[in-house]
Amino acid sequence: MEMTLKEAIEGRRSIRRYKPDPIPEDDIREMVRLATLAPSGSNKQMWKFVAVTNKEVLQKMAQAVSDAVDIMASWPEAEGRERRILGIKNYSLFFTEAPVTFAVFMEPYQSAADTIMKDHGLNREEINHLRGAPDFQSIGAAIQNLLLVAHAMGYGGCWMCGPVAAADEINKILEVKPPYSLVALVPVGVPDEDPPARPRKPLDEVFTLVK
Ligand SMILES: Cc1cc2nc3c(=O)[nH]c(=O)nc-3n(C[C@H](O)[C@H](O)[C@H](O)COP(=O)(O)O)c2cc1C
Repeated sequence: MEMTLKEAIEGRRSIRRYKPDPIPEDDIREMVRLATLAPSGSNKQMWKFVAVTNKEVLQKMAQAVSDAVDIMASWPEAEGRERRILGIKNYSLFFTEAPVTFAVFMEPYQSAADTIMKDHGLNREEINHLRGAPDFQSIGAAIQNLLLVAHAMGYGGCWMCGPVAAADEINKILEVKPPYSLVALVPVGVPDEDPPARPRKPLDEVFTLVK
C-alpha cells in the first residue's frame, strides 16, 4: 500500500467492471480489518461484514434484487417510469461480476438519548433529526475506509445501496439475523475500467468558514 492518503482519496473511483482475478483471502481480511478501524458512535462498532466469493450465492442475491425491482416496477406509481426502473436494475446488479462482494450489515444503535426521545413520543424521523443517525454515519465511515483501502491495495470497488431493495431476502440468503440488516453491498476486484473522476461541486458552494 505505497500510496499517500491524499493519493488514495484523489485516485479512488467507483469501479463497476472487474477482472476475474480472485482476491486472496488475506487481502479480503485486511480490507475488513482496516474498515473496522473507523470511528463509531460510542465505539459500538455496529457493523458486520460478510464477504461473498461464491458465484451461486451472488446469483441468488442478484435474483432477489431483480425480483425486488420487478415488484417496484409493478406498482402503479412506477407507470411511465420504465426507463428509470431499468436504470435502477443496471445500477443494482453488477456486483455479481466482482470476485468478492462485501455485504455490510448494521445493528441499529439506540443510545440513552434515543431512548429518552422515543419514550417522550418522538418518531424515528424526529429522533434522526435530533441525533443524526450515528449508526448509519458509523457504517458510512467504515465503508469509506474499505473503499480507500481497496484502492490503495490496487483494487477497485463500488458502494451500492440499490441492492438494499432486497434487504430482507439478502439477510436470509446470508443467514444474518435481525437486529442486523443490510445497508450496502460493496463489490471489489481488480479494475477493468479506468473511469474519469466524477465532477464535484465547487468548494465554495459546499463550504463556509465562520471566522
Ligand atoms: C450511499 C451510496 C450509495 C450508492 N449506491 C450505488 C448503487 O447502488 N449503484 C451504483 O452503481 N453506485 C452507487 N453509488 C456510487 C455513486 O454513484 C458514486 O459514488 C458517485 O457517482 C461518485 O462517483 P465516484 O465514487 O467515482 O467518485 C453509491 C454511493 C454512495 C455513497
